[in-house]
Order: sequence, then structure tokens, then C-alpha cells
Amino acid sequence: MKSNISIDFIGIKLKTPLFTASGTFGYGDELADLTDLSKIGAIVTKTITLETRLGNPQPRIAEVASGMLNTIGLQNIGVRNFVENKLDNILKLKVPIIVSIAGACTDDYVETVKILNSFNKISAVELNLSCPNLKKTIICQDVDLFSDIIKRVKKISKFPIIAKLSPQVQDIAELSLTAQKCGADAVTLTNTFPAMAIDINTFKPKLSTVKGGMSGPCVKPMALRCVFDAYQKIKIPIIGCGGISNGSDVIEFILAGASCVSIGTAALVEPDVFTSTVKDIEKYLQNKKIANIKDLIGKVKL
Ligand SMILES: Cc1cc2nc3c(=O)[nH]c(=O)nc-3n(C[C@H](O)[C@H](O)[C@H](O)COP(=O)(O)O)c2cc1C
Repeated sequence: MKSNISIDFIGIKLKTPLFTASGTFGYGDELADLTDLSKIGAIVTKTITLETRLGNPQPRIAEVASGMLNTIGLQNIGVRNFVENKLDNILKLKVPIIVSIAGACTDDYVETVKILNSFNKISAVELNLSCPNLKKTIICQDVDLFSDIIKRVKKISKFPIIAKLSPQVQDIAELSLTAQKCGADAVTLTNTFPAMAIDINTFKPKLSTVKGGMSGPCVKPMALRCVFDAYQKIKIPIIGCGGISNGSDVIEFILAGASCVSIGTAALVEPDVFTSTVKDIEKYLQNKKIANIKDLIGKVKL
């Protein structure tokens, strides 16, 4: 018996529950030669903003135990350049595309989605409301702004809307519920965890912006807790994200309540992690005689 690992997610038919995590797979086209795209359920693009952004100064990356810090600062080519020069190539990959977007205010998000609205084949838009590497506070920490962005984007978007949350909030379950009430079709939990590292020889922080976002295996238990808490409160599906690097990690997130997961840092180390992860999941389901992966969603036994 071959188990079914396809997922019907907010109206999108996905071959697998594995997404690329935003910012770790470029715009999606660069890594097509490095991995088997048939193992990827959906590609989430690097976050795109209304105008081009150069990002933060170097150094922007630092390694830490079982993970990494980054302060890329949303470097990107801007939405107009993206739709003119990148989108066609990404759509040729025949993998559902979720475009991640961000902005400094509600109007930035709305204007960016209006431009994307002219294109038919985008599967969904992910609102990055959680970047820790900008000068202003994380949008998730301003509930009025957070709610306003989701409501106004939902009103004009012809695509389903996914809200990507920061773990650095008072109550992730409550904020996920707010996202649901404002019209989000799904939530991604979570973005990176604010963190820092210091070079003890130079006494200087290892990142140009002093603090950055931590990702990789070290954040997995914390991200998992976020998914578990939110699943108790919301009805919309959850994309689990944080430290996932193999099939066991995926199963853990699904048992906690995720319908799908994103893989980021692990794909920077091994771009073809999707292939080994799918193999792991299929083997696990067969051993456990589970016919359909969706039967495991939220099935942690308490
Ligand atoms: C180098 C790097 C760049 C990232 N850029 C973005 C981004 O542009 N937009 C975003 O929403 N998340 C971004 N993230 C966060 C990831 O999408 C993901 O939420 C986080 O890294 C946790 O998952 P992981 O532990 O599997 O990497 C970035 C992460 C890394 C490591």
C-alpha cells in the first residue's frame, strides 16, 4: 500500500505537504536544478516589497549551535521587476507558487497585491508580518496594524491570504485567531526568533544590525509549541515552520496541528532535503499503516 501524502490546502492541490520557506529558496527559479521539484508541494518566494530593497549591510549571516542567525533585511528586486522578469520562469516549474510580500504600512501591502492581482497563476499570497530585521517594530507586535493589513488585503486580493506570524508575541494562539477573524485563509507559524551572537575576539556583534533572526534545528521545539497552541484555537490551516530538516520533524509538526510545513535553513545546507524528507514520510506512514497523511493532523495524544 502506498500512503497518500497529497494535501488539499486552501483550495490548492499539493503533491506533498512540503513548502520552501520564504527567503531560503530565492525567487524559486534558482534552485530548480538542485532539487527534485516533484517533492515540493509549493514554492514560497523570497519576500517581495513594493519597491526594490538593498537589504542590511554585511555581515548578515552568523552560524550558531544547531542553527543560524540572519539579518538579510528583505533584500529584493521589488514587485514590478519580479512580475516582469521572474514570475514567468517560476510558473514554468509547474509547482504552485505562493508569493511572499511585505511592506512598512497597509498601503504598501495593498498596492503590492494589486499588482499581483493581474496574474492568474499565483496560488496564494503570504503576508510576511513578522520580519525581525527592519528598523521598525515587528508588525505582529502592533495588533491594530496587523489586523488592518489582513482585512484590507483580503478585501482586494483575488488570491487566498496566508499570514506569517512572528513567535515574538505575547500569545501566538490569540494572534492566530485574530488573523482568522480578519480573513486570513491560513497562518504560517513561525518566522525566525529574535537573537544575537558576539565575536569574543573583536567584542563585536556577529551581525551588522546587532540582532537578527534565529532559524534551524535549535528553534524547532519552540516553533512546534506555537503550532500546538494555535491549533487549539483556530479553524484555518497552519503551515508549520522552524527547524524542520527530515521526515520525523514533519510528522511532529503535523501531529501538533500543522497541515503543511515549510523547510528553510535545512535546504540551505542540503537543497535536495525535500527528496529525503518525502522518502522518510512515506516510510513512516507505511510502517504505521496510515493511508493518508492528513489523518495525522493534530493527532498528538495528550
Ligand atoms: C537566510 C534567510 C532568509 C530569510 N528570509 C525570509 C524572508 O524574506 N521572508 C520571510 O517571511 N521569512 C524569511 N526567513 C525565515 C524563514 O522563511 C523561516 O520562517 C525561518 O527560517 C524558520 O524556518 P527554518 O528553521 O526551517 O529556516 C528567512 C530565513 C533565512 C535563514
